[in-house]
Amino acid sequence: MIHEREAAARKDVLEVFEALCPHIAGNPYVPHWPTGPQAKFLGSHVTSGADPANVFEALYGGAAGGGKSDALLMSAAQYAWKHPEFAGVCLRRSYAELAQPGALMDRAMRWWLKAGVDWNGTDKLFTFPNGARVKMAYHGHPRDDLQFQSTEYQLAAWDELTHWPDATAYEWISLSRLRRPDGSRLPLRALSASNPGGPGHTWVRNRFVGGVDVGTGRVVEPQHLYVPARLDDNPHLDQTSYRRALMRLHPTVRQQLLAGDWSAREPGDYFRVEWFGPMLDPEHDEIPRGEAVQIRWWDLAASEREDAARTAGVLMARLRSGARIVVHAVAFRATPGKRDAAICRQAHLDGRHTIVGLEIEGGSGGPAQFEALAKRLKAEGFRVVGARPRSPLTEAESRVMVRTPVSTSGKEARADPVASCLERGYQRRGECNDTGEPWWGADAGRPWTEQRDGIRIYAGPWTQAYLDELEGFPDARLLDQVDATSGAWAWLEAHPFGLRVAPGEERRRRPAELAGLHPEDRGGRDPGAPGAPEGGARGRERWRP
Ligand SMILES: Nc1ncnc2c1ncn2[C@@H]1O[C@H](COP(=O)(O)OP(=O)(O)O)[C@@H](O)[C@H]1O
Ligand SMILES: [Mg+2]
Repeated sequence: MIHEREAAARKDVLEVFEALCPHIAGNPYVPHWPTGPQAKFLGSHVTSGADPANVFEALYGGAAGGGKSDALLMSAAQYAWKHPEFAGVCLRRSYAELAQPGALMDRAMRWWLKAGVDWNGTDKLFTFPNGARVKMAYHGHPRDDLQFQSTEYQLAAWDELTHWPDATAYEWISLSRLRRPDGSRLPLRALSASNPGGPGHTWVRNRFVGGVDVGTGRVVEPQHLYVPARLDDNPHLDQTSYRRALMRLHPTVRQQLLAGDWSAREPGDYFRVEWFGPMLDPEHDEIPRGEAVQIRWWDLAASEREDAARTAGVLMARLRSGARIVVHAVAFRATPGKRDAAICRQAHLDGRHTIVGLEIEGGSGGPAQFEALAKRLKAEGFRVVGARPRSPLTEAESRVMVRTPVSTSGKEARADPVASCLERGYQRRGECNDTGEPWWGADAGRPWTEQRDGIRIYAGPWTQAYLDELEGFPDARLLDQVDATSGAWAWLEAHPFGLRVAPGEERRRRPAELAGLHPEDRGGRDPGAPGAPEGGARGRERWRP
């Protein structure tokens, strides 16, 4: 009697569960019973009441070890069990990540092969006994589109979504490859799992979690469902030893992994957002006229292709006091004609007091390209300078400079002094704990126009994207604005007093000068550098912004 009642109660519970989270209970391809949040995630397309005609998007995000990757595999097995027409795809950004031991593909084999699922290693395709298919795939480059061209899926399961630096691949596959076979009633789902942090942190946060845009201060409302994952949710993990391992990490990273905190962003390798100090307000904090040398440095690219490098222009000012200000940054993809037109337009917006700096490309076409654009800008009354940062050293230079190996002589080497200057300003303003540096706190309490070192930044609609790029440096895919920043910084470093030769006669700068080793600077001290006498070593020189 008691047994019957218990059996009936169990049946009721399972029915409710089945209604909320279909096809999990009893599924032979799901080896574990889902935890609470996993069940919520797996049933969210039913319980959220979303229109089944649209693709349903959800992120299971937060702490590492919360059971996110497991939940994605469960979501694939969910409809494969009873729907022979089901096709799903599980994605990582690279093949290496997909094939890692313990990652999706490895785990799926452990789950499914012994349950009678067939595996085709060439196509990376699991075929269930009823004919349902689940593909393991990677997508890290537009050329990987080909793998998806002629297929339709009802599930795209994205693991570690923040590893994708932008939403392009996600949107393309989730929105254009997800389709229902004729007559089928399978739900269309784009399900993702991710820890916070990584190059795509901001777009993923904005899409699913929401947050505040640092540049505009606007609150971004999430558009899709977010199921938080916490370490405590997963009783199947040895939490004590896992926690102990996490405690050795950087506090921000620990906060992201342990608590799944999306407001914590991991520190950049080179640049950290807090080093810029409080952002300047373009309405109230105007650069005093005649007090700054200002340059917009362009790092040129010449293609509209989605995966190409972008043309980036960063407007940086150097105040007489020594502080640098990032005033504005743009980046776009355009063909040479459109690009040059955009550069001219931007020059007019920036005004004639802004010098236009152009990167001279390596190779024989570089100088001609520079001459053509420079001529056009000069004809419109702008002052133009150029530099070829990667040209070989001259005989004289090679005596004082060591040629760095090619791999490190590029972007990193040029960003290095910029990052150093940025951090120095942060320490001089006393915004961190005492660092033991001799200049710690030397600029504390000074108005921003009188700070003697460091880099500040204006708030604007461009600021968040710019800072994301800096924080992602050097690992992220988008680095063009960092390069343009290095260019602007280096020119201002070599020319703290602006142009000293008449416009049009500016000779080409050599790398020694770009690195701050201007012939006149050797022996002298940089007026902005810590410990330099007030007003700068060359304070007597004429100031010509
Ligand atoms: N519902 C569950 N039942 C049993 N074990 C689970 C369950 N969910 C996750 N696990 C196990 O916990 C560990 C961590 O899960 P994983 O999915 O890798 O977490 P995450 O992807 O969030 O870092 C894995 O060994 C996984 O198999
Ligand atoms: Mg995982």
